[in-house]
Order: sequence, then structure tokens, then C-alpha cells
Amino acid sequence: MNLDRRFPCIAEMEKAARRRIPKIAWDYLAGGIGLEAGLARNRRMLDEVVLTPRYLGDWEGAPDLTTRLLGRDWSAPFGVAPVGLGGMIWPRSAEHLVRAARDANIPFALSTVANATIEEIGRLAPGHPWFQLYAMKDREMNRHVLGRARAAGYDTLVITVDVPKKMRRDRDMRNGLGWAPGWDVGLALDIARRPAWAWQMALHGMPRFNNLTDYLPKGLGVEEIGRELGRLRDGRITAAKLGQYREDWQGKLVIKGILSPEEAVICRDVGADAVVVSNHGGRQIDAARSAVEVLPAIRSAVGPDFPLIADGGARNGLDIMRMLACGANFVLLGRAFYFAMAAMGAPGAAHAIHVLKEELAITMGQLGARRPEELPGFLG
Ligand SMILES: Cc1cc2nc3c(=O)[nH]c(=O)nc-3n(C[C@H](O)[C@H](O)[C@H](O)COP(=O)(O)O)c2cc1C
Repeated sequence: MNLDRRFPCIAEMEKAARRRIPKIAWDYLAGGIGLEAGLARNRRMLDEVVLTPRYLGDWEGAPDLTTRLLGRDWSAPFGVAPVGLGGMIWPRSAEHLVRAARDANIPFALSTVANATIEEIGRLAPGHPWFQLYAMKDREMNRHVLGRARAAGYDTLVITVDVPKKMRRDRDMRNGLGWAPGWDVGLALDIARRPAWAWQMALHGMPRFNNLTDYLPKGLGVEEIGRELGRLRDGRITAAKLGQYREDWQGKLVIKGILSPEEAVICRDVGADAVVVSNHGGRQIDAARSAVEVLPAIRSAVGPDFPLIADGGARNGLDIMRMLACGANFVLLGRAFYFAMAAMGAPGAAHAIHVLKEELAITMGQLGARRPEELPGFLG
């Protein structure tokens, strides 16, 4: 199959994904929170970012997408955001995505609540992936998890601060998605209509939270695992705790889920190497601002040199450019990559990266930008 013809853009992958995976997985991936105004806002705010092209510049050749971040040169200014329970969206998503990210030299972040283990992903792409931490209350337990990440070769830790409490996601509640799907006849019929997904799931088995099971008593049922994890998790990450993480992690430290300029400055001042300006893809607070709205104020608060990564709603190369134009140095995409996984399975990982890179290079060429750092000069 010619993938460029079948899936020329992420929007086509999204349509196919919806047809190919059961509703419980689709709703989990595509959904937001509440009335999903935040989800819509992410799209609307990106659409409102406009750029003015310059055609008369005297330069030839393709734009250079190479971007330096966290001490490394990446082939493009975007990467794969951490997504939990990716194994339910498409079996072995993290494994496929990390290989493709390694080959394309873009970052891939593994979620604490991914289904693949820290060690498996570390082995597939030595020294390449970032690890995203949902912290536990017990500092020793966190140190143990971080020790595993270090031993597996991860050099970048991403601490997510924007899930302070248990949340209610209406679509997931209606579908009976807790820590594992609640089985009923409707779910069984839905799965029977998605043979490609069902076949892959049968081959690889139901996804588990394999990074966390070592910390739980043996023999717990699914409901009990959920309760136990809820008890262990440390929702509220204070500035003082960030200082402790800074002491406990010697590698690069990124704080994810920042929307306020004051908090970005706190992160910088506790020694973080970057923050991710993010509303968690519209999944936490339905009234939260979008990254592109707050980026300019955060950029002026932290100064020109502190690395800002942004995410939320990006679906194509132009969206990546919009975020960069508003003051980000780098962009993460969550759903875009997982739509590709659900649409195509294994080949989706490399194809999504290829599409985004090509869109980015071609649209930058149209605009007249030679390098990502020039994009703020085209805003407005
Ligand atoms: C299905 C799903 C699961 C997610 N799981 C996590 C997670 O485990 N940890 C985390 O820090 N962020 C998680 N996120 C948020 C993403 O890292 C990212 O902030 C968001 O997806 C960006 O928006 P986008 O999907 O529109 O690109 C998740 C997002 C989605 C859609």
C-alpha cells in the first residue's frame, strides 16, 4: 500500500483509527474532559495563530529542521508525548513508536502507566527514550523507579504535575474503563467488529501496568489494583518536592503540565532543564488555557534561553510551526501518533513522523523560514 496516498495527513489517520479500534479505546484516546470545550479550544486557538510569509528572501534549498534540546541535536523540533495505556489503543504502540523515533532521531517519552516496561523500551532504543513519572508518595519508591530508568539508560526525566487528583472522564466512565476494561456484551460485540485490533490483542494479551506491578501486593484483582495505585500516587507535586526530584535525578529534568508564567519560573529556579507548557490535551480542566495562548507570557517570564516545550492539539506541520512561532522551542504530539498506530499498526509510527516532517519542511519553505528558531519572526 502506498501510505502517502492512503494516509497523506494525520486527519486521514484519525478517521481510519476511529473505524479500526473499539469505542472504549477510541473514547479514551480521542476524548477530553467535561463538555470537551478545552479540546475544541486547543484546535481553535491553534487556528487563530496566523503567520505572514516572506517570498522575496534570497536563499535556496530546503529548510534545516535540526533542533538542539536538552543537550542533543534532534532531526526535527517535535517528539512523541507520553501516553498511558497505549497498549489498549494498539498493542505494542510504545515499542513501535520508540523504534521509529530512534531511527528518525526525534524524542519518545514513555509514560509511567504505559504497558511496556522501562527496561524493554530502554533495550529497544538504548539511551534514546525519556521517562515520564507519575510520582508516588513514598520517596524511596520513586528513587527505585528512577534507579530503574537510569539503569535502563534514560537520560531525561519528565515529571507530570497536572494530575493532582483523581479525575472523572465521562466517556471512560460510560464505557466502564477503570484500570482495565469492564467486560460486558456490548464491549464483546464492539470488539468482534474490529478484527484487526482483536487479532493483535489476542496475539499480545491484554495490556497491564507493567511498570507498577512490582510495587503492589501479589494476587490483587483489577479493582483492588486501581484502589492501591490511587493510594500510592502522589498527586500534588509542590515546588519543594520538585527540589527533591532535582536531587534524586542527575540527568535532564523536564516538568510537564505548566500553564502559568509564575510556575514556569519556579520550575526554572528549582533547576529544571525545560518545562512542557501543556493542558494535557484538554483532559484535565475543561476551562484551561491552550499552550499557544500562554506561551508568549511564559516566554517573557522565563527569558529567551530557557527551553519551552509545548503540546495540545497539534495535528500537522503547520501546528508545530504555530507553537514554535508563539515561543516554544519544541513540540510534543500525543494523539497524532496514536491515531497513526490505530490506523496502520506498526508502519504507522514511521509514517506519522515522515508526514509531520515533510509538512513542516514544506510549509516552512513556503513561509520563507530557514530554521525553526526564525519562526517567531513570522508571527502575525
Ligand atoms: C490517551 C492519552 C493518554 C495520556 N497519558 C499521559 C500520561 O500517561 N502521562 C502524561 O504526562 N501525559 C499523558 N497524556 C497527555 C499527553 O502527554 C499530551 O500532553 C497530550 O496528548 C497533548 O495533546 P494532543 O494529544 O492533542 O497532542 C495523555 C494523553 C492522551 C490523549
